[in-house]
Amino acid sequence: MNKLVSLSHMTQEQVRGLIELAQRMKAGEISPSLKDKNLILLFFNPSLRTRTSFELAMQQLDGNVVTLNTGGDTWTLEVDENVVMDGSAVEHIKDAARVLGRYGDAIGVRAFAKGEDWERDRQDPIIGSFVTYSGVPIINMESSLYHPNQALADIMTIMENCGTDVRGLPVTLTWANHPNPLPMAVPNSFLLTTALFGMDVRFVRPEGYDLDPMVMERAEKLCSDAGGRLTVTDNVEEGYGGSRIVYAKSWGSLDYYGNRNEEKKHRKKLTHWIVDDEKMAFTDGALFLHCLPVRRNVVVADSVIDSPKSFVYDEAENRLHAQKAVLYSILGE
Ligand code: CP
Repeated sequence: MNKLVSLSHMTQEQVRGLIELAQRMKAGEISPSLKDKNLILLFFNPSLRTRTSFELAMQQLDGNVVTLNTGGDTWTLEVDENVVMDGSAVEHIKDAARVLGRYGDAIGVRAFAKGEDWERDRQDPIIGSFVTYSGVPIINMESSLYHPNQALADIMTIMENCGTDVRGLPVTLTWANHPNPLPMAVPNSFLLTTALFGMDVRFVRPEGYDLDPMVMERAEKLCSDAGGRLTVTDNVEEGYGGSRIVYAKSWGSLDYYGNRNEEKKHRKKLTHWIVDDEKMAFTDGALFLHCLPVRRNVVVADSVIDSPKSFVYDEAENRLHAQKAVLYSILGE
């Protein structure tokens, strides 16, 4: 592997290989070494799980890791090309990327969508700049479009509980209530990766909450190529009916993109989009998954997330094992 920007641009066999490697590392069957390798983690946004699990993953592989938070630990970075830098940004991203590429053998980057202009955000300019200018492998730790390391841990958790033959597995990805419009990287990656594996994917959301058309079309094609199925519905009974996995996430509407206050007013009509026992009762004893952090009793009822069917902590733990597999696949001999 020479980078990890999105899982859906890999083959099912390549993703399966990463998960198998992660499982072997989790079981303690192999302990490969990344001694003398250097990983740099650059965060434009906060994190609890991603930062902790990547730092520990690299340390457990005997490698070196340096974490930087932009704006606090680094200079503020200019992203646009060909600008006169007489504003607040002190350093151009291409210079920062080239310099960090001289120190690190790989660079992890977290850069969420800014939430103002989707046409700009969907170009993923920060990750793209690092891929273009750093000269070393880039690992996407969540960008505007994708959160591949989360999706890897999600599929690993599904396979641990439902077996590795997941083609046709009924899986529900449901929009959930939240006070704020959130990024779409997690649902994009979950939808595309479950489609890549040919699952029976039910995408449940209120009208106006479809993902980017490129993602919806790609998910449809991946599903069809892998012998799966994609159902898009706002009907909870149809979306949850007979499902084995319920994956909850909130995200912002493209109809209101850049207009948070208008969307917040609209969302007040959607507070019933919570994952609760009533909805879970439509499923076939489904497991509950969420990437975390989660707002309890807004996105999901305590009775669901605290139930024996909730695997959110296994899912979070699997970030560590999955990322060790990613790091070794990129940096190992
Ligand atoms: N799921 C996830 O990426 O968590 P953090 O935002 O805490 O890193």
